[in-house]
Order: sequence, then structure tokens, then C-alpha cells
Amino acid sequence: MSSYPSLRLRRLRKSKEIRDILSETHINLNKLIMPIFIDDNLKSKEEIKSMPGIYRYSENELIDLVKLYEDIGIKSVLLFGIPKVKDNLGSEAYNPNGIVQRSIRKIKEETNLVVMADLCMCEYTDHGHCGIVRDGTVDNDKTLGYYQKIAKTYAESGVDVVAPSGMMDGQVLAIREILDKEGFNDIMIMAYSAKYASSLYGPFRDAAYSAPSFGDRKTYQMNFSNSREAIREIEEDILEGADIVMVKPALFYLDIVKEARRLFDLPLAAYSVSAEYSMLINGSKQRYFDLDSIIKESIMSIFRAGADLVISYFTEYIAKNREIFIS
Ligand code: PBG
Ligand code: ZN
Repeated sequence: MSSYPSLRLRRLRKSKEIRDILSETHINLNKLIMPIFIDDNLKSKEEIKSMPGIYRYSENELIDLVKLYEDIGIKSVLLFGIPKVKDNLGSEAYNPNGIVQRSIRKIKEETNLVVMADLCMCEYTDHGHCGIVRDGTVDNDKTLGYYQKIAKTYAESGVDVVAPSGMMDGQVLAIREILDKEGFNDIMIMAYSAKYASSLYGPFRDAAYSAPSFGDRKTYQMNFSNSREAIREIEEDILEGADIVMVKPALFYLDIVKEARRLFDLPLAAYSVSAEYSMLINGSKQRYFDLDSIIKESIMSIFRAGADLVISYFTEYIAKNREIFIS
């Protein structure tokens, strides 16, 4: 064992080239997932005010967008739909010809992108909750039947990965059962397993007009004071048949990412959510930091904590500026 003065760790950082060959973590487009908002109410794209640089796209702009994504090296996208009408039962979520279902079909026809689709009801219900409301609360088991209907329409449209984000107990099992029953045993489930009731979803709810009209999501999303419970959530989803498990948000929850990595061998995703994006954009506008440097540091920290996949709104920017981010 050597130590100072013969051991000098600064030798490992002497030049850019040395630092480059010794870096332990890399940013790789295979590992980044780009979210896309498709809005059935639009004729042309509209910037999301609380997420500068991120847009809601109309259906007719989608193909050009995803072809561009494929050209610049993006490998996977995660779809979110905004329907024309919202109702009590979130009917548009399981319309076989709904906005997400049509988008899945188009993207799979025109590209080789891996298509993932968020499976939830909050964008489709008039009350903005993630399931069927009864007596002022979301009815867990009743909601599962609706998630199955959504999963079936996504599968029939050709989705590669369904990503249930509603935090209902038993959602992964219910979805695995319907997929298998309908002959879709090759479709993966990426489970939003440890999804916290976070204030960091604010800009997303602006984007998707999906804020709950009463109450909050604390009876289904996790309490952010808990970490052991997150491990139980992930264990449960693995037992129910998840192919990929997720921690969400990412940056305030890297302890959970690291613990999940240590305990489980499944592919592990982390979702760097809307306000993580917006904070970094705005901080750079205020000149608290340089945008490219902070993107690199934040994404690197999520991979370093042990995520295999990162869902990031910066994916498009990284792909367009690969010489800065990708070694
Ligand atoms: C739907 C869903 C949400 C996000 C992903 N899927 C919103 C929520 O739970 O309120 C948030 C993503 C983000 O903030 O970027 N349940
Ligand atoms: Zn939801």
C-alpha cells in the first residue's frame, strides 16, 4: 500500500487526454431516452412555457421529428399524449385510434426507433388523477382494468415498451397478464417503480394540462422521506414481471438509484424530470453555470449513481451537439 508522498492522485488528472482515458462513466445515446409530447389539439408545434426549448407537437409534424431524431442518433423515445377531450373515465387513453396509438403506428412504420409509451390516465381524465376516482380517491383495483385496456391498445399499435407511471398497486402484474393473454409476450414493461410525489413534475403538468383538479397524488406516489419503501416498490414490480425498473425523479434521488443498482440486476432507468430540465435551463440563463457543463455534470451523475438508462429532455440537445457530450 502506498500513500503520499509516493502516491499522488493528481497524476490521474494531469492532462485532458489522461482524464479522458481514465473516465469511469460515459454518455452514450443508446442509453438516453427522449420524451415527446404529441398534442391532438394542435396544427403546429407550440413551445412549453415552463420548459424552454421543449415543444408539444402536432401529429402531422411527428414523422419529420422522429426521422430527424433517428438521423442524429437518438435510439429511443417515450411518448406522452394530450387528447382532444378529457372525461371522467379517461376514455381517450384506451381509444384504439387515440393520439398515442396513432403515433406509435406512424413511428414504427417510418423509423427503427425503440418506441416506449407512458401508460397513465392523468392526461386523459378531466379531474387529472392517474386513475378512476371514487369517493374522492383513486380506486386502485378498478383502475387496473383500465390500465389493461390502455396496454392492449398500445400493444396492438406496435409499441416496444409500455411504461406504467400511475403507481397503482398491482399495475405491472395486470399489464403483464393482459399482454400475455393477447399474445404480446415480447413487449417489455418499464415500470415507474419508485416514483415519488415530487414538486419537480410542475412543468410537465403544464405541458400536459394534467395537474389534479382536487387533492394531490400523495396517496399513490411515494413519500419522499422514504428510501427503504422504494426498495419494496421495486421488489414488488420485479415479482410482478417488470423488465426495466425506474427511479423518478433522478437528481434529488440518486441515493435511491445507487441502492437499487446495488440490490437488483435488472436494467435500471432514472427519469430526470421536467423541473430538473427547467432548473438547469433557467440557471444557465441566469449565468449561475454554463449550460453544456451543467448538462454534462448532471447526466454523468445519474449514470455514475448506477442508472443504465436515463430519460432526459436534454437528449435531443445532446444528440445535436454530440462532439461536446459524447466521447
Ligand atoms: C404521468 C406522468 C408524470 C410524469 C411522467 N408521467 C406526471 C405526474 O405524475 O404528475 C412527470 C414527468 C416530468 O415531470 O418530466 N403520471
Ligand atoms: Zn398519471
